[in-house]
Amino acid sequence: MPALVLLGAQWGDEGKGKATDLLGGSVDYVVRYQGGNNAGHTVVVGDQKYALHLLPSGILSPGCTPVIGNGVVVDPSVLLSELSGLNERGVDTSKLLLSGNAHIITPYNVTVDKVTERFLGKRKIGTTGRGIGPTYADKINRVGIRVQDLYDESILTQKVEAALDVKNQILTKLYNRRAIAVDQVVEELLGYADKLAPYVADTVLVLNQALEEDKVVLFEGGQGTLLDIDHGTYPFVTSSNPTAGGACTGAGVGPTKISRVIGILKAYTTRVGAGPFPTELFDEDGEALRRIGGERGVTTGRDRRCGWFDAVIARYATRVNGLTDFFLTKLDVLTGWEQIPVCVAYEIDGKRVEELPYSQTDFHHAKPVYEMLPGWSEDISKAKSFSDLPKNAQSYVKALEEMSGAPISAIGVGPGRDETIEVNSFL
Ligand code: IMP
Repeated sequence: MPALVLLGAQWGDEGKGKATDLLGGSVDYVVRYQGGNNAGHTVVVGDQKYALHLLPSGILSPGCTPVIGNGVVVDPSVLLSELSGLNERGVDTSKLLLSGNAHIITPYNVTVDKVTERFLGKRKIGTTGRGIGPTYADKINRVGIRVQDLYDESILTQKVEAALDVKNQILTKLYNRRAIAVDQVVEELLGYADKLAPYVADTVLVLNQALEEDKVVLFEGGQGTLLDIDHGTYPFVTSSNPTAGGACTGAGVGPTKISRVIGILKAYTTRVGAGPFPTELFDEDGEALRRIGGERGVTTGRDRRCGWFDAVIARYATRVNGLTDFFLTKLDVLTGWEQIPVCVAYEIDGKRVEELPYSQTDFHHAKPVYEMLPGWSEDISKAKSFSDLPKNAQSYVKALEEMSGAPISAIGVGPGRDETIEVNSFL
């Protein structure tokens, strides 16, 4: 079973870092295939806490080669500062591979992200402001800058010129901002070339060769299923494909190579940014989930919106990703509630609906239909096996599994590396 995809089954922030890190010790390559430094993974190793944005979690496992695939958008300054931050803490980052085809988040992409959001006002998406959307827009518009362009000054200059030609018109005439100088951008980008050179590689070739040699490759999704540009709650989504298919295009491997797709599922639901969220809580329960779960964005520091578990979304994630397993995280956060509501269906304009509506209007009108499950009060953070969990916690997990449509193969009971119950092995 050499190729696994690990991705968020909800709106991101499900605790993917912990899951990837758990597997990191037994895999040969950990690959990011989409997104950029809009992501934020927290990995706790011993008493050390690492916040990663762009680098794959595998960077913390000495035997593992971390890879940034062609589908990722890369802000070179963020990448270099994340690398030097890890080096200062004694982490060896020399094995990192960076696709020459990955697109670069330029300074003007960041500017456009911020001014567009400001311009949208009430209708803003609530982006992370990292330039993600505008960089993917340039990629699709065929005016993007790729990592390989840093090594040909003439090509780089022509491409920056082409990109800024239109953007400067928009910035000056529509947004009333100053034009951005081509030379300045080119100079800044060229300044990254030598520093990035040791990492740049043909990652598609490397990964396919690795798979031929039966090496274990883990594809690590950023964000989550409901933030997918095609399958998420459009337009309140990110600009890439975190869903399983994105691993194929964003890393250059065929779908026949993927053997397992693991969805990371939080035992309740969170979301950052704008957009519909049927089980969102505005009361003290929501506040308690936020406080106990530490639900504050790793990247933006924004408070996350919190709500009960939504089985309709979990079923949807199983379907669009072809999930083979779930990794249930943060079960410990639910300790202490007498009863735990779980959303089993929606009521939309007076009708009960079991599956995620494809219409944006319907989804905005969806009200959760709850089933109450009995809670538990015992500390579960020391549980090592499923049978160590209190009966009601076991029933909660079993109920989620049944509603969600794939086996729950691991359960997170605390933030630490060891605080995980493995029900079935992933490898
Ligand atoms: P962007 O990815 O910065 O363009 O933001 C688009 C939407 O995706 C916003 O609602 C963000 O809050 C959300 N988003 C982006 N990255 C993450 C993430 O890693 N976790 C959760 N939400 C995210």
